[in-house]
Amino acid sequence: MEWLFIAVVTCLLALCPVEGDDWRLEYEEGLSHYSEEALRKEFPEKSRPISFKHPIFMCPDMSPSSSVPTSVELVRAADIKVIAALGDSLTTAIGANATTVLGIPIEFRHVSWSIGGYGSFQDVITLANIIRLFNPNLVGPAPSKTVHGTPAPLCETGFNLAVTGHNTFNLPEQVRHLIDSLKTYEDIDFDMDWKLLTVLIGMNDICDYCKDKALLTKLFLWQATDRRFFYSIK
Ligand SMILES: *[C@@H]1O[C@H](CO)[C@@H](O)[C@H](O)[C@H]1NC(C)=O
Repeated sequence: MEWLFIAVVTCLLALCPVEGDDWRLEYEEGLSHYSEEALRKEFPEKSRPISFKHPIFMCPDMSPSSSVPTSVELVRAADIKVIAALGDSLTTAIGANATTVLGIPIEFRHVSWSIGGYGSFQDVITLANIIRLFNPNLVGPAPSKTVHGTPAPLCETGFNLAVTGHNTFNLPEQVRHLIDSLKTYEDIDFDMDWKLLTVLIGMNDICDYCKDKALLTKLFLWQATDRRFFYSIK
């Protein structure tokens, strides 16, 4: 049995050999403090049973505008064609539905608060599932889970392009990835479609500062240089 356990842990870790991946290293280090029994222990109460249903959502007017709004204050929920999200582990939803310690590297992107597309509003209340009530053809909700550190295609992530462990200075690369993906995605009219983008990042800046005092320098540099990127993105 022990070889099986070791094989599972090794496979899980081998999936993510990303160099300089602090999150992964810390996780590995953390595992070493657990007994084999503790690692395998199931915590079923940490996950949501599949039978759970929220009440049906009702709203008197869920229609779109008669023509594509030209200004953001006129956009109705049903006018939103595309949803996207950037950020860190709070958006990748790492471990969100894990029931064992070994399940923690799994990113439950499909239940992420901002963009999870698992089931419907009745299964999980995410921003994407709320917008879907207004526009069932919404493009971008995350359809499935991924494994941290393993490259995942858009068919698994949707436009949940958040990266576990990222700091604020990683945001320009995420934005670039998102824009390139939106522009080449065939179901999207990049210029005409209204898109709802959520960005939640910065928690790791605070957590990482005590581990890496040079981080603050990096953040200041980012403010001075890469921030210009945001004013020039096309
Ligand atoms: C969450 O975990 C429970 C128990 O393992 C499982 O039944 C359910 O399908 C999972 N939900 C998602 C969205 O992965």
